[in-house]
Amino acid sequence: MRILVSGGAGYIGSHTTLQLIAAGHDAVIVDDFSRSKHSVVPRLEALAGRPIEVHEVDTTVRPATDGLLADGAFEAVVHFAGLKAVGESVEQPLAYYANNLGSTLSLLEAMRRHDVRTIVFSSSATVYGENAPVPMKEDFPTSATNPYGWTKVMQEQIFRDAAVADPSLRVALLRYFNPVGAHASGTIGEDPSGIPNNLMPLIAQVAVGRRDKVLIYGDDYPTPDGTGRRDYLHVEDLAAGHVAALAHLATTDTSVSTWNLGTGRPTSVREMVDAFSRACGHAVPFEVAPRRPGDIAESYADPSRAESELGWRAERTVDEMCADTWRWQSQNPDGYPED
Ligand code: WQD
Repeated sequence: MRILVSGGAGYIGSHTTLQLIAAGHDAVIVDDFSRSKHSVVPRLEALAGRPIEVHEVDTTVRPATDGLLADGAFEAVVHFAGLKAVGESVEQPLAYYANNLGSTLSLLEAMRRHDVRTIVFSSSATVYGENAPVPMKEDFPTSATNPYGWTKVMQEQIFRDAAVADPSLRVALLRYFNPVGAHASGTIGEDPSGIPNNLMPLIAQVAVGRRDKVLIYGDDYPTPDGTGRRDYLHVEDLAAGHVAALAHLATTDTSVSTWNLGTGRPTSVREMVDAFSRACGHAVPFEVAPRRPGDIAESYADPSRAESELGWRAERTVDEMCADTWRWQSQNPDGYPED
């Protein structure tokens, strides 16, 4: 199928674009490059072995987005474009609501006008809020504790309401747990701008010498070693989940489907630091610091619905996640070259 990948130059978007092409799809990237670099495109093309069509468009801008779908002959959309930093969303809530809700509304409007009926959406386990039991199941209630999380809860509702109005829509809401890792080539990977919010890129930047130590936010959680536990999954497994969801949407008569994409196996912060030390061959320095406000002790998936309905299962281990992250970071100590 000819597929529009919004945010396709980003971390998960780029890995998914590659797997869509490998699966035989004609994947087209649209990205405003506000949080990604143009230098990822030639690397993707080298890995894909063919040119990749790219449109530099802000999908919150309706005329430009409509024009893209009017001319594009797309059969589906995979929607990654969005702001995703929890802390930043607290400081800039209006920008998060405008950007994240705006791009979804703009894409859905253009899809309606141009008869594109299939969309895979990048949701997040953050929609389970702060009191959910583990393992998390798709039928749990949703809530949030920060504007970023609320944009994901609200976008899911927008998709559900759009599908009530137009039952011919086929929507996959994919709730990511904690994506980490990089393509095995080491030529594409996660390249957050500024100080990373997330654990894995921060560990990687310490390991490569860009930062001096990892601060472990709290070791007094009710977990086996006292540090927070999360369900880390390899970005390549995550990308494969999108390919599987897209295939399922082509055959289902359900208008909106929700799937957790996680391994179902929690890993603690301390265990991740130790695993990364094994992968990079030297001890990653760390220090225990106070808890980060808003953090929960544990988050991990019940992935059984994706396994039974999509035939999808995360295969890669934490050691592989660390080894692939290290290959990317050590080959690209400063991330992608500036544009
Ligand atoms: C993981 C663990 C921290 C950094 C967030 C968003 C979620 C998704 C993934 C977008 C926690 C600990 C972290 C550090 C640490 N983002 N930590 N020192 O908070 O589970 O999820 O990112 O979709 O929506 O909520 O991920 O990587 O920030 O933290 O000790 O320097 O690592 O306390 O236990 P999180 P994270």
